[in-house]
Amino acid sequence: MSKAWGGRFSQATDPRVEAFTESISFDARLAPFDIAGSKAHATMLASVGLISDAERGQLIAGLDVIAGEFERGEFEFKTELEDIHMHIESQLIARLGDVGRKLHTGRSRNDQVATDIKLYVRDAIDRIDALLADVQRAFVGRCDADLDIVLPGYTHLQRAMPVLAPHYWLAYCEKFQRDRERLADCRKRVNISPLGAAALAGTSLPIDRHLTAKLLGFTEPAANSLDVSSDRDFLAEFCFCLSLIAVHLSSWAEEWILWFSTEFGFLRLPDAYTTGSSIMPQKRNPDVPELVRGKSARIMASVPQLLILLKGLPMAYNRDLQEDKLAAFNAADVTISCLELLPNVVAGAELNREKIAARLDDGFLDATALMEYLIKRGVPMRSGHEIVGKLVAKCEAEKRRLGDLSLDELREADGAIDEDVYSVLGTNNAVAALVSYGSGGKEPVEEQIRRWKERLVLKRIAPRGNGTSTTSGSQGE
Ligand code: ARG
Repeated sequence: MSKAWGGRFSQATDPRVEAFTESISFDARLAPFDIAGSKAHATMLASVGLISDAERGQLIAGLDVIAGEFERGEFEFKTELEDIHMHIESQLIARLGDVGRKLHTGRSRNDQVATDIKLYVRDAIDRIDALLADVQRAFVGRCDADLDIVLPGYTHLQRAMPVLAPHYWLAYCEKFQRDRERLADCRKRVNISPLGAAALAGTSLPIDRHLTAKLLGFTEPAANSLDVSSDRDFLAEFCFCLSLIAVHLSSWAEEWILWFSTEFGFLRLPDAYTTGSSIMPQKRNPDVPELVRGKSARIMASVPQLLILLKGLPMAYNRDLQEDKLAAFNAADVTISCLELLPNVVAGAELNREKIAARLDDGFLDATALMEYLIKRGVPMRSGHEIVGKLVAKCEAEKRRLGDLSLDELREADGAIDEDVYSVLGTNNAVAALVSYGSGGKEPVEEQIRRWKERLVLKRIAPRGNGTSTTSGSQGE
């Protein structure tokens, strides 16, 4: 088969080179974006008079037929056709002859592939944003039912201060909200059109880059052809956004794996989301969170992979860039697969009220509340810290709790202590004492829940299809 670029060549390409250089095995998924880009390009070519309206009509109809073949899985792939761009163009030429040969006017695969990837990333951002909103809804959705559950808060994985359970759920909502904001910001830089930068320098033909940008929902055409045909910053940025999502997913997973253990015993995971062991009959393993934690490595690896790919490249396009898609597709696919599972795990998990309550008064979760009680009675903070530290040491030695101490014992430690001290001792009292903005006590948490309910329209969690819409999506909730 003669190549689209075969004019200056006298030898056929070695089939091993074809196998080595192909990207169709991984860029075929760009087909809907490539077709959308080509339709916009054809419309523009007609509008500036480089092709006739009739030719534009034929090209668009031909591209629609090819889109249908992709959708029905009928499109035939051939290694010697290299990539998705050559596949679609050669199919168009096979159907339309010379009219098909006009499509690539004023365009190169370099601006074409950059356009396709940007359309793909924009679409992926919108999908991931919607999935993150679903995860947030799952967390917010369980806040009311868990509002009376007090959990230990940890630092250094040591019991620190108590918080209401929804305080944990909404902490994840905040993290995922920042992830959504980062994606929305990244989207602004994604949404600049490369199309018409051509190979690297633009073209002598009277193309209208503003028109193609507008037709494809981009905010504007990129200002410098050299820059945009070599730019993959947006891809590294996108993968970084995904990597922070992965950090949040992975530390959520780690926390719930711990909580699911016999040692913690805080959590029951739905049977449908756990698995057994082939040898130990008693086992129930938290495979889903474990694999969320494990798969996050692949998402994070995409950032160094892209940076290393990019760092030695002179301007403008270099074939190395073909490898960009492997990193980004993998990162996006894994992120989406984790996010799709999460809402059901989050909504389906149950806190083990009895087990949590049974050990809630272990670990001196009320020590800080006692210190703050002293501060309210005029004891300097550092002195209060010292006094309570000594009381904790005494309790530890005698296997007692702060609330078990008699008023005399407490007053011996500091005369400022009165009968009302028992209203802050004990974990439940300690959590009730938390009043500051953003804290884990009842009123501040109820206030957070109210805000989140307003922000997210709570709706039933439904599985999402793999939409490939190429129009700009909304960043709404
Ligand atoms: N398959 C190529 C890629 O993914 C498309 C661009 C090819 N451009 C070129 N000048 N050979 O980067």
